[in-house]
Formats: sequence, structure tokens, C-alpha cells
Amino acid sequence: QAALPEGYKLRALRRNDFDAGFLDCLRVLTTVGEVSKEKWEERYDWIARQDGTYFILVIEDTTASPPRIVGTGGLLAERKFIHNLGAVGHIEDIAVAKDQQGKKLGLRLIQALDYIAKEVGCYKTILDCSEANEGFYVKCGFRRAGLEMAHYH
Ligand code: ACO
Repeated sequence: QAALPEGYKLRALRRNDFDAGFLDCLRVLTTVGEVSKEKWEERYDWIARQDGTYFILVIEDTTASPPRIVGTGGLLAERKFIHNLGAVGHIEDIAVAKDQQGKKLGLRLIQALDYIAKEVGCYKTILDCSEANEGFYVKCGFRRAGLEMAHYH
């Protein structure tokens, strides 16, 4: 397991992380849009009610003042009928702040999410990524499998 830099903490997302730069962290990944604190809390509460389904982790740099979220990643544990009522873990929205990349934070997030997936009974963990990120996921122990299809609305 990769160690975190001194003063960095890996923990579950909290309701007050809106003010700790969670959405800014996600902006390195894609468009986040203008999300108000009220709307953020509404979504946070909805996710929290899906007991045992969503696991959103963050890495916080507690040496910054104020402490700042520098990485995040999510896991969705999808319960199935197939494979004897099996479950599949979906890794989503991995983002490490630009100035924090290359410190193994991404690797640490993937390891933690994959561990949770195993703990909650997922027989595999899957994710979609760009060709540019394939090497990162290979270093995390993943391998190319299948083909992604999408229909945007
Ligand atoms: N291609 C090949 N190797 C890579 C890449 C890459 N794009 N990125 C990192 N690596 C390697 C590192 O060199 C390191 O190798 P080493 O162990 O030999 O030193 C290993 O992978 C682990 O790297 P980390 O330091 O843990 O990577 P980092 O913390 O920078 O996080 C990440 C990688 C998440 C891709 C980050 O660069 C990022 O946030 N990028 C922008 C957002 C993004 O693309 N997120 C992923 C979208 S896919 C999804 O969410 C399912």
C-alpha cells in the first residue's frame, strides 16, 4: 500500500466538504458547473440515504490552512441478480488536484476504493477511462477489458 504524504488524510466525504474545495478538485476531471451549497447538500443527503451503495473518498491536506481537499474518488456498489446475487464495483470520478499529481494520491484512492468494493462483496471492480489514463490504471492493477459505449442525452 502506498503511503500518504505527511499530514494528508484519506477519509470519507463529509457534508461540510463543500467549503474544503471538493468541487474545485473535481474540476481537473471535467465540467462541474456552478453548484450552490444548498444544491450540494441536497445531493449529498440523497447519496447518504443510499446506504451502502455510494462510497466517496477524499484526500485532505491538513497542513494547508485552511485544510484542502486535494484528491477524490467514488465507488458505486451495484447489486445484481446474476452471479448469485453478486455485486460489481464501479469506480467513478477520480481526480487529483493539478499541483498534487504524481504523489501516488491517485493510486492510494484506487487501492482504498477497490478494498471497499471487496469488503462489500463485489466480485470485480470496473471503470471507464481515456487512453491517456490507461497506464495509470495498469499501475493500479487494472487491465483493459471490454469496450465502452455511450449515448449522451
Ligand atoms: N499514464 C501513465 N502512467 C501514469 C499516468 C498516466 N496518465 N498518471 C499516473 N501514472 C503513473 C505514475 O507515474 C505512477 O507510476 P509509478 O508508480 O511508476 O511512479 C502511478 O501511475 C501512480 O500515479 P499517481 O501518483 O498515484 O497518480 P496521480 O495521483 O497523479 O493521479 C490521475 C492520476 C487520477 C489520473 C490524475 O492525474 C488526475 O486527476 N488526472 C485528471 C483527472 C482524470 O483524468 N481522472 C481519471 C478519470 S477516469 C475515472 O475517473 C474512472
